[in-house]
Amino acid sequence: MDVAGQSQDAFTVDRLTDPEVIRNPYPYYDLLRAQSPLFGYRDFPPGTMPGVDEPKPSWVVLNFDDVAAVAWDHESFSSRDSLQEESSAPSLMLVNHDRPEHTRLRKIASAVFRPSSIQTLAPEVDRLVAATMDEYFALDVEVDVMADYCAMLPSRVMAHLFGMPIEMDRDVRNWATAFMLSADIDPEERQAFNVEAMEFFHNHVTEQIRRIELGEKPDGPLLNAFIETVVEGDRLTFEEIVRFCMTATVAGAETTSFYLGNLIAVFADLPEIWDAYVADAGLFDAIYKETLRYHGPPQRLFRVATRDITLGSADIKRGDWVACFFGAANYDPLVFEDPYSFRLNRENAARHMSFGYGIHRCLGAPLAHLEAESTARMLRERYARIERVGAAEWQGVSLLNHGLARNPVIFRARK
Ligand code: HEM
Repeated sequence: MDVAGQSQDAFTVDRLTDPEVIRNPYPYYDLLRAQSPLFGYRDFPPGTMPGVDEPKPSWVVLNFDDVAAVAWDHESFSSRDSLQEESSAPSLMLVNHDRPEHTRLRKIASAVFRPSSIQTLAPEVDRLVAATMDEYFALDVEVDVMADYCAMLPSRVMAHLFGMPIEMDRDVRNWATAFMLSADIDPEERQAFNVEAMEFFHNHVTEQIRRIELGEKPDGPLLNAFIETVVEGDRLTFEEIVRFCMTATVAGAETTSFYLGNLIAVFADLPEIWDAYVADAGLFDAIYKETLRYHGPPQRLFRVATRDITLGSADIKRGDWVACFFGAANYDPLVFEDPYSFRLNRENAARHMSFGYGIHRCLGAPLAHLEAESTARMLRERYARIERVGAAEWQGVSLLNHGLARNPVIFRARK
């Protein structure tokens, strides 16, 4: 296959960081898939500093079965990230823990993120979705849904969950974007956002604990659950609570922003999918899952080999970095027939890898579903059509979060 004039021989693994590839990586994965695992990709894990840290050369794993094998085998492939641990950015809870610490933390966090508890947030999420649409969406004029709605809704949900003033939505947004490398920010600014976020959460958690001890019931259901949840006599330490706030901010706000943008892009660019959804609201779950496969936000995450191990044709050495390309697994034609077509009746759509696989599978998936379902439902109630206007621009900064930089549409009213 030829992509932008590339023949299979010309395209090499080190070019996966080219902006044109980041904007539309799938055809490039196809060029490399048969040779995967390949060595020689250099890119930045979340929390590291382009311009300060030096990325390690790593293996690239593209086939569905290999991606699943790496993600599943948490003993041979560690989630601890020495680059991030050495960097000045805070390291994340769970995401960067191996067992046994991971087991302990996940037990407590699973009680906090229990789907039934997340479901109780639905009325407030609906209220925030409606208010944010009222604020940013107008009829019959061009609206860049990335600039406002998709950027702000997940940050507002986070602010609510932590009991922060809603006016801090932009701060949450800035902290998440700086950490997740999805914008071209210089190292000093990135560092300043990390420090600001950690200081804020340190003070905020201190105050929240003080108020709870005084018998008050402060706002912030997720933060309160982090503070109060006890599992088998065990609870989170102060430091762990602060880092969980940081983790939920960066793991939850940025990914969901990009996901909501990708979902609205599906509605705008594939009008037959919008029409089908308008005719039958019950199709939402099929659309949700297929959008996660078709345009999953995190395209790749890293692991580090804890021992020498053979994966397909690759002899991976202990200490080697391995980039697990969830986004490429989602387009593996051996698992997903005709992967470039968006299908509502794809029987195995739920096998998408966009929430990861194995012990690190996304803990916030029920919350992401809540925000997406509420968004889609209210779009359907309010508008007859969502028309693409001008060109959608995919961001070309990082494969960590595949999504749009600009997503201009026009909303047309129901008659
Ligand atoms: C569409 C939105 C989202 C996507 C695509 C997504 C994707 C992912 C992926 C791929 C992982 C696995 C990481 C790995 O294997 O190293 C993960 C883990 C995680 N996610 Fe999400 N996520 C989303 C939303 C959220 C939200 C809203 C939250 C919380 C507020 C959240 C919290 C977490 C946490 C805490 C983990 C770590 C789990 C562990 O390591 O045990 N995510 N997510």
